[in-house]
Amino acid sequence: MIVGVIGSGGREHAICEILVRSKKISELYCFPGNAGTAKIAKNVDINTDNFENLKNYILDNKIELIIIGPEKPLVDGLVDYLENFKIKVFGPNKIASQLEGSKIFTKKICKKYQIPTANFGIFKNTKDAREFLKNSGYPIVIKADNLASGKGVYICENFEESYSAVKEIFDGKFGEANDILIEEFLNGEEMSFFIVSDGISIQNFGTAQDHKRVLEGDKGKNTGGMGAYSPSRLINAELEKKILNKVILPTLKALKEIGTEYKGFLYAGLMIVKNEPYLIEYNVRMGDPECQTILPKLDSDLLEIFLACCDKSLKDTKVKWNNKKSLCVVLCSKGYPDKYKKNVEIENLNKIKLDKLDYLFHAGTKVRDKKIFAIGGRVLNFVTLSDKFANARKIINKHLNELNWNNGFYRKDIGYKVIDE
Ligand code: AMP
Ligand code: GLY
Repeated sequence: MIVGVIGSGGREHAICEILVRSKKISELYCFPGNAGTAKIAKNVDINTDNFENLKNYILDNKIELIIIGPEKPLVDGLVDYLENFKIKVFGPNKIASQLEGSKIFTKKICKKYQIPTANFGIFKNTKDAREFLKNSGYPIVIKADNLASGKGVYICENFEESYSAVKEIFDGKFGEANDILIEEFLNGEEMSFFIVSDGISIQNFGTAQDHKRVLEGDKGKNTGGMGAYSPSRLINAELEKKILNKVILPTLKALKEIGTEYKGFLYAGLMIVKNEPYLIEYNVRMGDPECQTILPKLDSDLLEIFLACCDKSLKDTKVKWNNKKSLCVVLCSKGYPDKYKKNVEIENLNKIKLDKLDYLFHAGTKVRDKKIFAIGGRVLNFVTLSDKFANARKIINKHLNELNWNNGFYRKDIGYKVIDE
């Protein structure tokens, strides 16, 4: 079968790497891919915002299945567009993608279906928000409604901070200023919970915890994710049941009731407070680096799962996992998430000797004249499966020392809650 993956991050390299285990794949394309996907797929340098060019390439090359990794093409309606041309696509449609594209869309569903979430208010202008903030308790959370790559969320300790956040959002920092969300601060521990769905039934797709902050001890600026581990230390059978019954299933029912359905990965960002789940946000895709952390644990054929979702036969499809612990550490360019140098060569990659349970997924990398260059903030993902998280981190550190990349940095404390306590 000829398959294409859209995206260029660690998530997409992991998807490609696990997909090519399937004997049914005859050719794999990645749009636009990175230096890692180049080794196992044909990278196609095409602007994925240009749906028409993309569609023409897919039809010309007889690609039979497309998997969409990142949120932007999903929220922009690429699934609906390609399906109009009878192309098989794994990913949610434009309406269902509002779960990530609009935080207010999700909050309204939470309210109607009594899905546990932080109490909230929706504000249309600075004046009303200011009045509310003058009399509220702190900390408080302010969110832009738009897709903001994780940056549109402010945790504010006092009135001044919250008012300046409101002004920034309404001044258009995250694009055209929509309404804003002000919500209660939830005090608990976060967990990422994943399912895959064919529109009729669902299957669990693992749990993880990522580290979003740039500095050790979970301090400093928010990033796309500096590392992750799977499974989450919080998951247990009772909590899993609550997450499915109180959060996931009511959400899928809500989508049905507005006349649509959910096909693809769904990622619930949860705050767990005393073994009770509260929904913080939905993402309509796998997480990055959670995907790199979870997928190597899969013991079933990933292509079969994608096809079953498109053909509505997920119920009869096996999704099996090994019970290893998985840890992922992200190597970034110095300066990330602010300014960093681009086109810096990464030498020594051939010095890293990966064992069977080790993976090295590329993110912001490019091949030129057989050399590999860093072109992004997050550059490489080191993943190891082991019986113990501590052991996985030791092996990853060994690999990072072997690479010894001058222009890079990484967090040495990924997984500290499951290792040091
Ligand atoms: P989001 O983009 O909605 O996932 O928010 C980014 C981060 O902000 C989350 O991963 C949480 O750490 C934090 N956060 C968001 N909403 C809340 C909340 N209501 N209470 C506490 N922390 C929150
Ligand atoms: N790791 C967080 C995300 O993918 O949104």
